[in-house]
Amino acid sequence: MTGSDIRQRFLDYFGQRGHRIVRSSSLVPGNDPTLLFTNAGMNQFKDVFTGQEKRDYTRAATSQKCVRAGGKHNDLDNVGYTRRHHTFFEMLGNFSFGDYFKQDAIAFAWDLITKDYGLPKDRLYVTVFETDDEAAEIWHKQEGVPLDRIYRFGEKDNFWQMGDTGPCGPCTEIYIDQGAGQGCGSASCMPGCDCSRFTEIWNLVFMQFNRDSAGVLTPLPRPSIDTGMGLERIAAILQGKHDNYDTDTLRALVLASAEATGQDPDGPFRASHRVVADHLRSSAFLMAD
Ligand code: SER
Repeated sequence: MTGSDIRQRFLDYFGQRGHRIVRSSSLVPGNDPTLLFTNAGMNQFKDVFTGQEKRDYTRAATSQKCVRAGGKHNDLDNVGYTRRHHTFFEMLGNFSFGDYFKQDAIAFAWDLITKDYGLPKDRLYVTVFETDDEAAEIWHKQEGVPLDRIYRFGEKDNFWQMGDTGPCGPCTEIYIDQGAGQGCGSASCMPGCDCSRFTEIWNLVFMQFNRDSAGVLTPLPRPSIDTGMGLERIAAILQGKHDNYDTDTLRALVLASAEATGQDPDGPFRASHRVVADHLRSSAFLMAD
């Protein structure tokens, strides 16, 4: 599947299950002084989660243009040197505004990746927030994920928040094992390790609170769902690549940089070509927006 096929399959899947397909919002948020650039699919729905804004739908799905080049979610220094960091990327997401919650969000995600995308269950792992017994039980009893493939982590890994303020909540993440050959070899290597063995594919956030500037958490009017899956990462996995820059969308730009500069795409300027490919996407879409 090309990147475009993967995006379309995602939107079709959720469209067929009652979700409104909403266009990506601008990379420059219109009405949010807390945010310089759009950094997640949920940004355009922030006020819907808090109940300040009403829409005529309670389920949505998007492929959102995102830039993470500063602030809380910032990958800038890694770009070019790692296989999966970008300043610009697309986030595939489904959202429930007080409609379905944990059970259905987990069922949809598992169904899509194991059936429609055909990922082998025996390479998948999940993580949940340390006290979230409910999510662990859904993964185990409803989806049949073995207990030894369900890891529990604290706030740093399994509690998502947009920034210092705004909607937030515990989350559950799906990881794929890329094989011991991609790993650090450590006996304690597991999902969440910094090496390339376990790749996080999808983050499902159980939106339950709004954090104010004093850090106080207030429950949202209704429990909601915000998910995000990086298109470039899932494309690498489905295209059998270990590197996002080898997928169809990014490799074309790396090759264009190599051609324009007369330098081997995989030679000594490899990282530079990747920085060029990444930053071209960020700057082109930022200028367009
Ligand atoms: N908002 C969450 C994230 O950015 C899930 O979409 O990871």
